[in-house]
Amino acid sequence: MSDNKPVVGILMGSDSDYDIMVEAAKILKQFEVPFEMIVSSAHRTPERTMQYVRGARDKGIKVLIAGAGAAAHLAGVVAAETVLPVIAVPIDATSMRGLDALLAMVQMPAGIPVATMAIGLAGSRNAGIFAARMLATDDPELEQRLLRFKEDMAAGVSRKSDLVQEKMAADGLI
Ligand code: RP5
Repeated sequence: MSDNKPVVGILMGSDSDYDIMVEAAKILKQFEVPFEMIVSSAHRTPERTMQYVRGARDKGIKVLIAGAGAAAHLAGVVAAETVLPVIAVPIDATSMRGLDALLAMVQMPAGIPVATMAIGLAGSRNAGIFAARMLATDDPELEQRLLRFKEDMAAGVSRKSDLVQEKMAADGLI
């Protein structure tokens, strides 16, 4: 990215979502994608949420990520207010362990899509990677960073397989 103006906006429904949503932020930092992250609730601060989303495109935001738990309407109301792509991260915040948020986010009516990730940490990391992949479609340097990330991940699996061989040998299995 040529300057440091945020191109990804991360919203979370509460500061209690921070430990999950910071994972998306870490991924974006790793890929050198400028971002900003705010707390805004679909239910508790609907006007604040609308104001942020209405201003997002004009200040250079290209992708929005919304993380929320419970009856998680944040991603849906954000997507209702913009044509920017919206990625949803369901968070485990109640006795339903995130299933409530997952269903609220994934079961959007036709016409207002949100790209819903897995519940929790993996979903938050994937939201960051997915945002980077969208932005990489016209950013060859970012595309290269994503390709290296995939290669490193594959090398990691290969190393883990070597470790498993060593453990099996130590346990007398091979
Ligand atoms: C949701 O309610 C938030 O996204 C959070 O996951 C959940 C609980 O919020 P707090 O009561 O911790 O503020 O709106």
